[in-house]
Amino acid sequence: MEGKKIQDSSVIIAQVMLPQDANPAGNIHGGVIMKLIDTTAAVVASRHARSNTVTASIDRLDFHHPVYIGDLLFFRAGINMAGRTSMEVGVRVEAENYVTGEVRHTASAYLTFVALDKNGRPTPIPPLILETDAEKRRNREALHRKESRLAEKKQEATCQLDSKNCG
Ligand SMILES: CC(C)(COP(=O)(O)OP(=O)(O)OC[C@H]1O[C@@H](n2cnc3c(N)ncnc32)[C@H](O)[C@@H]1OP(=O)(O)O)[C@@H](O)C(=O)NCCC(=O)NCCS
Repeated sequence: MEGKKIQDSSVIIAQVMLPQDANPAGNIHGGVIMKLIDTTAAVVASRHARSNTVTASIDRLDFHHPVYIGDLLFFRAGINMAGRTSMEVGVRVEAENYVTGEVRHTASAYLTFVALDKNGRPTPIPPLILETDAEKRRNREALHRKESRLAEKKQEATCQLDSKNCG
């Protein structure tokens, strides 16, 4: 399968936060931002795989600053690592107050997607062509995270079989 560059599938999505996204005090619900992170990352994964993709996992997500009604959110997403059928997508969220111009880093997240064929089975995806030093570094870090995720998954499966092994 022919390789694809990171820039071939990367996206930036912008969305203004509205009253229906917020609590009565005007703070945007974390779940609204989480859904947009997942949606943006899914676009990147499906553009890379050119097939249906599903979210296999989302790593820990911290919100660094509050987001308010009227803030303009930017979701910058790109693929960090392509495995055989799975891929890691990184999403960086920034909130801009477009009256003052102030920009805040709101959150960053790593999501793993799996490409599925027409029968809903994992299917191979194109390999990634890494061009810059930053892309190579992100790829190395993503491979380490993949190892940790799979080790955790294996440990959970063992725990389910034998509760004595659970920490
Ligand atoms: C994700 C899913 C397709 C994996 O199925 P599976 O039978 O475990 O697949 P495999 O063991 O063949 O693994 C396929 C790939 O997924 C990766 N993978 C599986 N589970 C994973 C997890 N929890 N986190 C990260 N990657 C995972 C594997 O590493 C493998 O990657 P590779 O081919 O690049 O090496 C399956 O668990 C599923 O359908 N889950 C529901 C997904 C969904 O519907 N999400 C939307 C929210 S409900």
